[in-house]
Amino acid sequence: MGEPARTAMIFGAGGGIGAALVRRLAESGGFAAIHAGARTAPAHLPGSVVPFRFDLEDEGSIAAAVAALAGPPDLVFVATGVLHDTAASIAPEKSYRQVRGDTLAHLFQVNAIGPAIIARHTLPLLPRDRRAVFAVLSARVGSIADNRLGGWHSYRASKAALNMLVRSFAIEQARTHPQAIVAALHPGTVDTGLSAPFQRGVPAGKLFSPDQSAGYLLDVLDGLTPADSGGLFAWDGTRIAY
Ligand SMILES: NC(=O)c1ccc[n+]([C@@H]2O[C@H](COP(=O)([O-])OP(=O)(O)OC[C@H]3O[C@@H](n4cnc5c(N)ncnc54)[C@H](OP(=O)(O)O)[C@@H]3O)[C@@H](O)[C@H]2O)c1
Repeated sequence: MGEPARTAMIFGAGGGIGAALVRRLAESGGFAAIHAGARTAPAHLPGSVVPFRFDLEDEGSIAAAVAALAGPPDLVFVATGVLHDTAASIAPEKSYRQVRGDTLAHLFQVNAIGPAIIARHTLPLLPRDRRAVFAVLSARVGSIADNRLGGWHSYRASKAALNMLVRSFAIEQARTHPQAIVAALHPGTVDTGLSAPFQRGVPAGKLFSPDQSAGYLLDVLDGLTPADSGGLFAWDGTRIAY
């Protein structure tokens, strides 16, 4: 018997890093089926990729996308997230005086609750008889241990919540899926719309292109073992303390 045909599912394929991940996965030839989801139909998908629509704030759209999978997902990659949103007057706070309940609620919804709902629908489907990965883009600034600057209160708190969910889900998943890896990733500082207003001061060579970051992240995932499950890993493979 040959290797089972592998399936990948990427949520956030319209984002800077998400789109680059889809391109890299398609080029790798490592997956027989790649499902790529976005709020609006993502442009320029490689021909072999199957598009789907979902919104993190609409659980039914996530359930429907998962139900349409042909087989169990060997890789689930959540590449969504929000830091600022000019239309909604959301910007990272410099002081607790700027903290607003609606901003906190929105960032928790997109950065922590949405990925948790994706996990709820996909983790039970991961194959039990082989290695499988659930990965989500978090951020180093979501590490409580690493926080020396403060600020960006809603974003940091939402990513810290995400990191805790990843750790807790990994512990539970190991009981039924001993070969599974559930991991949070820090992609580095990447040249996307999310980081665009905050790139000043990034040292030369430390602002990655989305393609560069996607390559690093897929290499990191390749190197993880089930013993690493529950961790937060940077683009260079180093583990970041929570
Ligand atoms: N760029 C960096 O320097 C950096 C650094 C650390 C961590 N990260 C993390 O990396 C992840 C990806 O960021 P990026 O840099 O690629 O940013 P991006 O280009 O802005 O991509 C973010 C994606 O999230 C999607 N999204 C937002 N709200 C959504 C919702 N309700 N439902 C479905 N999709 C939704 C956006 O969809 P639309 O296109 O429809 O808006 C967009 O495709 C984020 O979690 C971010 O926190 C990035």
